[in-house]
Parts: sequence; structure tokens; C-alpha cells
Amino acid sequence: MKKIIDFQNQFEQYLSENPINGRPLSLYQPADYIMSLGGKRLRPIFTMLGCDLYGKPASEALRAAMAIEVFHNFTLVHDDIMDKAATRRGQPTVHEKYGLNTAILSGDVMLIQAYQYILDYGDPVLIKAILDVMNTMAFEVCEGQQSDMDFEKSTDVSISNYLDMITQKTSVLMGAAIRIGAIIAGADEKNQKHIYEFAKYFGIAFQLQDDMLDVFGTHEQVGKRIGGDIVQNKKTYLFIKSLELASTDQKALLEELSFTSDHTYSDEEKIRLVTDIFKDLHVSAYSKEVIDAYRDLSVSHLNACDISPEKKSELTTFINELIMRES
Ligand code: IPE
Ligand code: IPE
Ligand code: MG
Ligand code: MG
Ligand code: MG
Repeated sequence: MKKIIDFQNQFEQYLSENPINGRPLSLYQPADYIMSLGGKRLRPIFTMLGCDLYGKPASEALRAAMAIEVFHNFTLVHDDIMDKAATRRGQPTVHEKYGLNTAILSGDVMLIQAYQYILDYGDPVLIKAILDVMNTMAFEVCEGQQSDMDFEKSTDVSISNYLDMITQKTSVLMGAAIRIGAIIAGADEKNQKHIYEFAKYFGIAFQLQDDMLDVFGTHEQVGKRIGGDIVQNKKTYLFIKSLELASTDQKALLEELSFTSDHTYSDEEKIRLVTDIFKDLHVSAYSKEVIDAYRDLSVSHLNACDISPEKKSELTTFINELIMRES
């Protein structure tokens, strides 16, 4: 874990030396604001790890790590608009603080900036290899985000639909982050694929846990509004499983609350009623089982990588802690 803290510090240092700036300030300050709010810095750590695992200094992956974290923060700025979220990382979201139009445009600038960091590598062969991974990932993230919104209005989302959607919106970015690090270190195709799958399956477990924290976490720990997914009619694993297990009365109430808008419950009442059903049906226990299954799948791909047993066990500890996180 010492290595991971070291990578995180290196990344923070690099970010503080290379802040996002430009004019007009009204466009660039919101980007600097969201980047400076911190967060776990998980994806840039993955990029640095990917490079380190395959034998090159993690510092060589710093620019790509920046690209990945800026891309991630871009998705968060736009995600908070789509999800009507007022707080992130314990602070006002960008659109709350700076207005909707600025949030859209600052997000756009961050997306462009992410690609600029990659171009800075200079080597055309390396740049092409990284951009191939970035573009495949970026298309998928947009596709996943659109499905996530489409599902808000849908009444027949299956668990398999949900898993495909979170793979696209969340997991492929984790996969791309670590794969790009491995590319920079010169890992072969086989290793790139396994390390990508390792992070992708981890990402599915990570999003399942994010959805659990959205209901059962505290605002203090998570820095986001608790119950936001329930208010937005998100078709999470918890929701879909509850519909499947519900009694006739529970099913009718879930459907009234989440499939119609003509009920008279307030957001707070809706959150409480849906959360009570989740608790009553013990759906978090089912979710934990799925999380464990994806964690195991993730580790099986890590085991197929040509890296030392020490590195494998370090990485396994790292992802286990993240999967069981409370923030
Ligand atoms: C939030 O990601 C978006 C999801 C995919 C759940 P993180 O939980 O990694 O957010 P930060 O960067 O640590 O704030
Ligand atoms: C976020 O999913 C996925 C992306 C930003 C691409 P969520 O909407 O669950 O993330 P949070 O909970 O707002 O961080
Ligand atoms: Mg969101
Ligand atoms: Mg969202
Ligand atoms: Mg969430």
C-alpha cells in the first residue's frame, strides 16, 4: 500500500504543478475547481500502476494519468447535470456553482484537455495505441450514460441490462486507465488484455458498491446526496432485485413511486419508503454476492498476468479495500 500512497502523492504533486488554467477564467476555473476537490484519484493510480507493473517508472505514465483523471472529472461534471446532483465531494457541483451552460462548456474543455495530454507524449506509435484505447472507452462511457438515463424511464430493465450499462459507464474507464499504463511500459497484447479485464471486472464491483453507498452511506462519507438514485428512478441492482422479490403490496408501491410521476410523495418520503423495501428484502446481501463474484473474476485475470506474486497480492489488497469502501 505504501506504493499506492506514493503514486497518489506523485499525482497530486504533478497536478499542483500543472493546474488547468486559461482564459477566460470563467471557463477554466470550474475545471480547476472540480479537479482540486480531490476524490480518491483511483483511475490515475491505476494508470501509474499499469506502468509500474510492467517494469517502467510510474512517473512515465503521469501525463496519461492526468488525461484519465481529467476525463473522469469531465464525465462527473456532465453526470451531475444529468443526475440533477447538487453536491459532489462534499461541495457544490459545477453546474450549481457556476451555472448550467458553463458546466457544459467547462466539461467540453476538460475532454479536449485530456486528449491534449496524450498528444504531449510525442511518439506517434505510442499516441495511436493510447488513443485507440481512449476512443473505444469514451464511446462506451457515453453509451452507458445514455442507457443509464433511458433506464430511468423504463419499466423493464433486467439485471443483465443493468450490468451491461455499468460496464459501459464505469468499468471500461478503469480498464482503459490501467491498460494505458501497461501500453506505456510496453506490455504485450496478452498482458494488456488481462490487466484491462482485471480493472474492468473490478469496476463492475466498484459501481455496485457505489450504488449501495448511494442508499446506505452517509452524506459525510460519500459527499453526495444520499438517496439521489432513488429520486432519479435509477434502475440499480438494488431496485431491480427488489422488484423481483417484492410482495404484491411492495411491488405496487415501488411501481407507483418509480414508474409514475402522479403520486403525492415528497422526495424524502420516496427515499424512505424505497429504502425500507430494500432493507426488508435484504437486497444488499444479494448485491454483496454479486460484488464478490466480480471481484473473483477480476482477480482471475490478474492471476493470468505475467507479474510477480508480490505485485498480484498488493493489487488484490488494494481492490479489496476499494470494494469494501464507505466513501
Ligand atoms: C464516481 O467515481 C463515479 C463512479 C463511477 C461511481 P469515484 O467514486 O471514483 O469518484 P472520486 O473521483 O473518488 O470522487
Ligand atoms: C457515474 O455513475 C458514471 C459516470 C460518471 C460516467 P453515477 O451517476 O452513479 O456516479 P455518482 O454516484 O454520481 O458519482
Ligand atoms: Mg451521478
Ligand atoms: Mg449518473
Ligand atoms: Mg452513484
